[in-house]
Amino acid sequence: MILQIKNLTVEYAAGVKALDGVSFDVRENEILGIIGESGSGKSTLAYSLLGLLPYDCKKNGGIIFNGTEIISLTDKEWQKLRGGKIAFITQDAASSLNPVLTIGYQFREILKCKSAFGSDREAGAIISDSFKKVRLFDVGRVTNSYPHQLSGGMLQRVCIAMAIALSPQLLIADEPTSSLDITIESQIVNLFKELRQQLSLTVLFITHNLGLVKVLCDRAVVLKAGRVKEIQETSGLFAAPRDEYTKSLISSLKELE
Ligand SMILES: Nc1ncnc2c1ncn2[C@@H]1O[C@H](COP(=O)(O)OP(=O)(O)O)[C@@H](O)[C@H]1O
Ligand SMILES: [Mg+2]
Repeated sequence: MILQIKNLTVEYAAGVKALDGVSFDVRENEILGIIGESGSGKSTLAYSLLGLLPYDCKKNGGIIFNGTEIISLTDKEWQKLRGGKIAFITQDAASSLNPVLTIGYQFREILKCKSAFGSDREAGAIISDSFKKVRLFDVGRVTNSYPHQLSGGMLQRVCIAMAIALSPQLLIADEPTSSLDITIESQIVNLFKELRQQLSLTVLFITHNLGLVKVLCDRAVVLKAGRVKEIQETSGLFAAPRDEYTKSLISSLKELE
């Protein structure tokens, strides 16, 4: 078990209980889907696992990563874990990059703040190796490009490359394909499958799209209003959903199909 979440409750200062007694385990090397409608607490869950919640929110329960309780780490300890053993990708890659700096410059800055390399040559090697892992083979062009010179799909690959550069164990992807065209979306979904295999990554794949869970995830956690409604192997979830809410999600997916 790489990650155990135990009775996690998160309440924002405004009084909104975004997570309410959430418990589940994440197995090593699986792709675990977190599925739920907008506002169900998916991003709050991601931020809890990355130490990115606002200071003034109340959190209770346990988050055990590799056997260590991490819910109350210090800022410094979080900084080490984040982008190190636990990596993060968000929905809108393009806007998380700085438009006036080249991709290569931004990548080196990330490595620098993680003290990940000794020489420029070493940084170059990590960057080109990461780009190849995400199937960006024209390393020179990508490195020298500004974000506007690359397509949305390429930018998302760049962000994934930045996330996996330091060999994380756990990759948290919060709606990583939601802003992409459907053809690009399926390419990125396939990339997640490859990376899991190649890098023995564990992936927490957050989405509101049940269709993606079906094609990508080994198991899924169904979240509604901050509570876990159901956890199952994906095949079982679709063949024999146990919860009424899961049933309604599946029947709306079938209508679409
Ligand atoms: N910083 C915040 N302050 C107060 N409430 C918040 C904050 N962020 C999210 N929420 C509320 O918490 C709930 C869960 O939000 P979120 O985790 O973003 O859900 P999701 O990612 O599934 O759409 C929502 O009701 C949302 O309005
Ligand atoms: Mg969200």
